[in-house]
Parts: sequence; structure tokens; C-alpha cells
Amino acid sequence: MGKRILITGGAGFIGSHLADELLAAGYHVRVLDNLSPQVHGPDCRRPAFLAPETELMVGDVRDRRAVENALQGIDSVYHLAARVGVGQSMYQIRDYVDDNDLGTATLLQVLIDHPVERLVVASSMSIYGEGLYLDRRGHPVEDLERDLSQLQQGSWEVLDHAGRSLTPVPTPENKRAALSSIYALSKFVQERQCLLIGQAYGIPVVALRFFNVYGTRQALSNPYTGVLAIFASRLLNDHRPMIFEDGLQRRDFVHVSDVAQACRLAVEVPNLTGQVLNIGSGTSYPIRHIALRLAEILGKGELTPDITSRFRVGDIRHCFADILLAREVLGYRPQVNLEEGLVELAEWLADQVAYDRVEQASHELASRGLTL
Ligand SMILES: NC(=O)c1ccc[n+]([C@@H]2O[C@H](COP(=O)([O-])OP(=O)(O)OC[C@H]3O[C@@H](n4cnc5c(N)ncnc54)[C@H](O)[C@@H]3O)[C@@H](O)[C@H]2O)c1
Repeated sequence: MGKRILITGGAGFIGSHLADELLAAGYHVRVLDNLSPQVHGPDCRRPAFLAPETELMVGDVRDRRAVENALQGIDSVYHLAARVGVGQSMYQIRDYVDDNDLGTATLLQVLIDHPVERLVVASSMSIYGEGLYLDRRGHPVEDLERDLSQLQQGSWEVLDHAGRSLTPVPTPENKRAALSSIYALSKFVQERQCLLIGQAYGIPVVALRFFNVYGTRQALSNPYTGVLAIFASRLLNDHRPMIFEDGLQRRDFVHVSDVAQACRLAVEVPNLTGQVLNIGSGTSYPIRHIALRLAEILGKGELTPDITSRFRVGDIRHCFADILLAREVLGYRPQVNLEEGLVELAEWLADQVAYDRVEQASHELASRGLTL
């Protein structure tokens, strides 16, 4: 019989795709998920897309007894359960720290007495803050931030201390963390808690830093996560996608099936421990391009992006992944290019109903001075 895997947060977007990937490879998959209403709607029902062979335990990762039950007979764990939303984390501070930091602490507390062969924790590109840049002489530059007065003047690019331009380059794992939201801080805490306890107790841990994951099943009515899902919910309601700054900020969009592949490899590749790996596509696109292409593929090309020239406090300009290490260590090879991924997303969107809560969320942030 195949090995038994627990996925916390496995009823969500990435977790459900990971469950499919693992089931197809012959594993037994159990999920512990509290079916949070922001993701799963007010009825908190088992999502229809969760494969019937997946054993769902409805429970909270902060509940020690629920975690103990879920870990019975389990060989390896993926820890995906988290609140996911950069902007929202800046005013629901306690909830984010509670779910993400304490949820991970509870899981680790129980794992001490129920050791597993491998623990894979979902980390995030958000911990980098700004990605890596090179100066004119090709030297790497870190720890730069855009200040408020620069942004108020509409000068969006990251500049060096003398005001000179820099070139954004793929960000490797050894770039220092620069935490600019409670969400990013909590992802860093999750990652570090797992690595630290794993090392102390001999539990092999792999932390995967996902970049911008997109694909089917991402919660469309959640206005805080997934830029493509947010654009989709606007377009399906015949609204133009709203874009901060000038839309030329670059991100790395990685298809959810590629993330699922990386997760499976993180359990299957032998002798991994204490490894931290970027999981992106290795390519980057300006946000504006993404909004335009999705609109075109949906047959709504007239809904051109609304370039607001507004900005979010703590937002970054460019960050995209250097995936060399994941290629070497995991044998990870992204399979889905952006164009294919967008076509598949559009086909799925054709049958979806999305409540566009983006403006409401924007007001929420603006009323707190978090967007300007
Ligand atoms: N989607 C991305 O682009 C992205 C990027 C980087 C990192 N990540 C990380 O990947 C993981 C999965 O993200 P996703 O996009 O699938 O999000 P998602 O919101 O679709 O899934 C998260 C799941 O966790 C569950 N959950 C939340 N709090 C819980 C708790 N206390 N106990 C049990 N279950 C709980 C939710 O009900 C949901 O099903 C998260 O840890 C997220 O931080 C996602």
C-alpha cells in the first residue's frame, strides 16, 4: 500500500491539486482543513473539486487533539494551512498570527511525539520583500526599499542610494528576508519554526517558497489573494482589472500543477533535510501583461486594465524566482507556460460565478491608510 500523507489546508487551492498529484502517484491522502469561510464560503462545505478518495478531517490546525487524530498512521506531512492575504494581514493582525504562527507551533508540538519521515512547509516569496537587483557594475544590491515620497511622485522603480537605476534579476534563496507585512512575517515564522524544530528533533524538513501560484480552484471571491483570481473576478463581472502603480511591476506566475509536482518531489527525493527552495516558473511578466492577456483569452479584450497609479504601503516592485536550486535538488521542471495556463484558467472560469469584492477590499485598505 502507498504511503500515507497528511496535507494541512489540503481543501484549498494548492492543497487540492497536491492531493490529486499524490493520489495519482499511489499515495493515501488525508486532509486536515477548517474549511475557512473566506476561502470556502459561508456554508463551509467540502469542496466539490476535492477528489472523493481524499479523506477529509474537518478541524483546525490550532486544535491539538484534531492534529493528533489527523497524524495517526501518517508517514509525511505537508503544512499548507494558513490565512493567505498580504493586505488583510495588516489589519487582521491577531487572526493571521493566530492561524499561521500558532497553527504551525501546534503542529510541531504534536509532531515531537508523532515523528514523520518528512515535513514539507509552504513558505512564500513574500518573505523576500523586494527581489534581487544588480547595480551598473553587475554587483548584487539588497535591502533597498522605495520611500513614501518617491512613490507619491509616481517614481515606481527601485533606485540605489544615489538615485541611480538598477536591474532586477532572478532572486535566489540566499537573498536576505525583508518582511513588510504580517503575512510575510508569519510565513517566515512558519518556515523557521519548522526548520528549527526539524533540526532539533531529527525530522527532515523542506521549505518551499512558492511564488505567484495560479490555476483552477483558486477562491475567486476572496479579494485578498491571487492576483489572477482577483483579475478574473473583475472580468467575469464586466469590470476592468484594477492595477496598482503603472502595471510594469514583474512577478513570477507558476502554474499550480507545477507547484504540486515540486511538492511531491520534496517528499520523494531521498536525503533532503533543512532545504529551502524557490518554486516559481523561472520566467517573469509585468502585471499589466497578465491582466491584458487574461481579458483577451476570456473574450473581454475591451476591458483593458485600469492603471490606478495608486500604491500599497509595503508593496514591492519586482520579484521573480531563481529556480536553479530546485532544478538541481528536486529535479523540478516547470511544465506549463503562462499562455497554456491562462487558456486552461479561462476554460474553468467559463463555468464559475464570482462575487467581485475587490472594490470593497480596496476601500477597506484605503480607509486604514494602507493604499495611497
Ligand atoms: N497561492 C499562492 O500564490 C501562494 C504563494 C505562496 C505561498 N502560498 C502558501 O501556500 C499555502 C496554500 O495556499 P493556497 O493558495 O492554497 O490558499 P487557500 O486559502 O486556498 O488554502 C488554504 C487552506 O487552509 C485552510 N486553513 C486556513 N487556516 C486553517 C487552520 N487554522 N486550520 C486548518 N485549515 C486552515 C483553509 O480553509 C484553506 O482550505 C498557504 O500556506 C500559503 O501561504 C500560497
